[in-house]
Order: sequence, then C-alpha cells, then structure tokens
Amino acid sequence: MSQAVESPGVTVRVPGKINLELVVGPLREDGYHELATVFHTVGIYDHVIATPSDTWSVQVSGQTAEGVPTGDDNLALKAAKSLARRYGVDEAAALTIDKNIPVAGGMAGGSADAAAALVACEALWELQLSRDELEPLAARLGSDVPFLLHGGTAVGSGRGERLAPVLARGELHWVLWVSTDSGLSTPAVYAECDRLREAAGADVPDPVPSGELIAALRTMDTAAVGAVLRNDLQEAACSLYPVLEDVLEAGTSLGARGAIVSGSGPTVAFLVGTQAAAIDLSVGLAARGPAGDIRRATGPVAGAQVVQSVAPAGPPSFTG
Ligand code: C5P
Repeated sequence: MSQAVESPGVTVRVPGKINLELVVGPLREDGYHELATVFHTVGIYDHVIATPSDTWSVQVSGQTAEGVPTGDDNLALKAAKSLARRYGVDEAAALTIDKNIPVAGGMAGGSADAAAALVACEALWELQLSRDELEPLAARLGSDVPFLLHGGTAVGSGRGERLAPVLARGELHWVLWVSTDSGLSTPAVYAECDRLREAAGADVPDPVPSGELIAALRTMDTAAVGAVLRNDLQEAACSLYPVLEDVLEAGTSLGARGAIVSGSGPTVAFLVGTQAAAIDLSVGLAARGPAGDIRRATGPVAGAQVVQSVAPAGPPSFTG
C-alpha cells in the first residue's frame, strides 16, 4: 500500500467518560444489570496508533500505562482483531497506546482504547464503515465501547450499549480526583451494589432516566446539573474504597456545585461553574483533600477521532 509508506499509521484520539446519571436496575440473567445512564465525555485523552504489520502486537506507554495488559487480553487488540475477522481483512496491525485516562478508574479507559482501535484500523484498512456500522462490534467488546465511538452526551440503556444523543449546548467544567494507589474492578463494584441491596431488602425497579437532568443539560445550568447528579454505584464504590467519602466531602466543602463517583469508581468528578473555579478547586483539593492526582477537564467532547499526531496532554495535573 503506497499510502502506508508515506504515512505509516493512523492516530486516533479518544476521551474518557463520566456518568452524570447511572441508574442501576435489576441483575439480568446474562450477568449484566439493566441501566439508565447519561454518559458524558470529558477532555482527558488516550491516543491509539495503528500501523501496518505482519504480526499483531500492542505497546502501551504514557502517564497511566501501568497495569494495562499488553497481551491478547488487551481490549484494543481484541477490537482490532475482531474488526479484521468481521470484514475479512487479511492483514495485521501493530497498536501503540499513549495512555492518559485513569486505568480501572470508572472512566472507561479500556473501552475508549477499544473504540479508538476500531476507528484507527477502519481507517488503516480503508473499510469505509460508518460509526453506526461499527456499533455491533463495539457492543460485543464492552458496554461502554459504542458510546466512545460517538462521544458527546448521550442516554444509554440496556446494559449501556443502546444510545440516544442528548441535546446539550455549551460546556461543563470538571475537576477529577484520580486514585494514585489502586483502581476498582467494575464487576466487583456491581457485585457489592447487589450485596448492599440484598442486605437492605431493597426492591430494584426497572431503571428510568430522570427528566430533571436532561432538562438541566439543555441549558448547561451548572447548579441545576450539579444538584441532580446520581450514581447508584456510588455507595458500593465507597463501601469498597472508603476514602472516597472523604474525597467527596473535601470537594463539596471547597465549593463544588456537584460531586459524584465516576461510573464504578474510584475516580471522583466535581462540577464547577468556570475555569477559574476549576483551578481554585484543584489547588484546594491538592492541598487539603486525600492524596490523589487532580486533573481538570471540560465536557462534552467528541468521541474517537482520527488526528494527525499525538497532541500533548492537557493542563498539568496536581498531586496532592
Ligand atoms: O461490558 P463490560 O465488559 O464493560 O462490563 C464489565 C462488567 O461490569 C460486566 O462483566 C458486569 O459484571 C458489569 N456490568 C454490569 N451491568 C452493566 C455493565 C457492566 O453488571 N450494565
């Protein structure tokens, strides 16, 4: 392929996500929970580069590379191989991942890399597929992968793979507290949620998204959005990782308009009104909150996109 000589690979930039609302319904027979969720991308990015190669491989570098598998269980590699299989591509690819999204942090970092690998290999092999056409493969790889193909703000239902975009104008400013010692396993947090519900004898209704959040997002009214953030996994994440209670309390007492554990955690997202407030909160959290990496980001941003090259990481993070 002559193009491969001029341009050896395709680089895709992909953001992480938080859930502005995560309503967890009953456990299904397939082991998943029925969800009503509002996904929202934030500007913390991984880059995935796909290069033509005779053999399959994946290499991982970057700020959060530690602990990411580099064998056949790497989700980006699985994604690339599944695309090749599905469309009869008789070529392999070498993947390079530059990681900046927290690992096992509740921000769908692995799913983001899988979505990016699909987009990168689709472009590398010139398959001419739309995002919608990539969705079934994405959904088989993980519940959050279809959302990361699109990005923005969207309602997810089913196990999270069925999407409907949300009309959201403007942007939200976030400060993220990222654990520097350990992550949380998503299945373990769902299992803890089930355990807590069973112990409380709680009835688990079918999940329904709240109209208030969708209305608040239409105008991006920070106070209104902050007041209705909801995560049904938060109690379970705090039960497995009690320092999260202190993190939530620290950010709230420092003036955040909203505070929520991101997905299955342990990343915590604080909503603030302006970029200046985000700087103030990051400085305050680094000085007074529990030890962690403090990052700033705005959302929503686009999902996996082909770019010219790996851009430098966003604003510097603080370690408190
Ligand atoms: O879909 P994904 O592979 O990302 O999900 C990881 C795990 O999270 C699942 O194996 C399941 O334990 C849990 N999960 C769930 N209900 C969902 C999504 C994920 O129980 N809707």
